[in-house]
Amino acid sequence: EPVVAIVVAAGSGSRLGASVPKALVLLDGVALVRRCVDNLAEAGVERVVVTIPAGFEDDFAGALQGADTQVTCVVGGGRRQDSVRLGLRALGHLPGTTLVLVHDAARPLVPAVVVGRVLQALRDGAVAVVPTLPVVDSIRRSAAGTSSVVDRSRLRAVQTPQGFRLDELVRGHTHIELAGLEVTDDAAACEALGLPVVLVEGHRHALKITEPVDMLLAAAILAAEGT
Ligand code: CTP
Ligand code: MG
Repeated sequence: EPVVAIVVAAGSGSRLGASVPKALVLLDGVALVRRCVDNLAEAGVERVVVTIPAGFEDDFAGALQGADTQVTCVVGGGRRQDSVRLGLRALGHLPGTTLVLVHDAARPLVPAVVVGRVLQALRDGAVAVVPTLPVVDSIRRSAAGTSSVVDRSRLRAVQTPQGFRLDELVRGHTHIELAGLEVTDDAAACEALGLPVVLVEGHRHALKITEPVDMLLAAAILAAEGT
């Protein structure tokens, strides 16, 4: 089954605070967005739509030049979910294509084994698949000057790439748009339709670059891998 992907890269990266949009920041000389596209191409993804911030068309074209898969850039929207919706629209109708991965450009070091687990679960019949990890910190819920402990044993932190049957992801995003719902990931859009979400094991290397310390960690991971 052909697999396509959306890489969401339209954010500014305000918490990272770099002088360029986060997806263009270099990690050991290679832009985060390029690392993501290369990882997906390596996994056999045939076509990638990248959502980008307006005004950076040439920069993204340069960063993605020569990638080993078919890449299209499209300007994203105000929220992540708007960018995914615009990315799905840019993918268009793809007869015969049934599987789609949605990936954060901010996760440049996802191991191939994680992409493999997501695709395998889809091929085993899942509609929506999410890589997750147990939460390592103790968690408290805080409210109005008080707080209470939360049992973390059943909590999971969610990563990307998330994988979907393409038609169901389109249906999910159409639904949340019409219903005015806000979601922070794409599985939540499918869940809003009542579809089941399958969890697979994620990986610490799939960390999201959010703050400057995350760049230090990613650089150390790369150095340890010797690539
Ligand atoms: N994203 C997007 N469109 C948006 C907002 C976010 O495509 N309107 C993408 C980002 O480019 C990123 C991913 O969604 O790859 C996860 O978002 P986040 O880590 O929050 O990135 P930013 O929104 O860029 O960072 P910040 O919130 O610190 O500004
Ligand atoms: Mg953000």
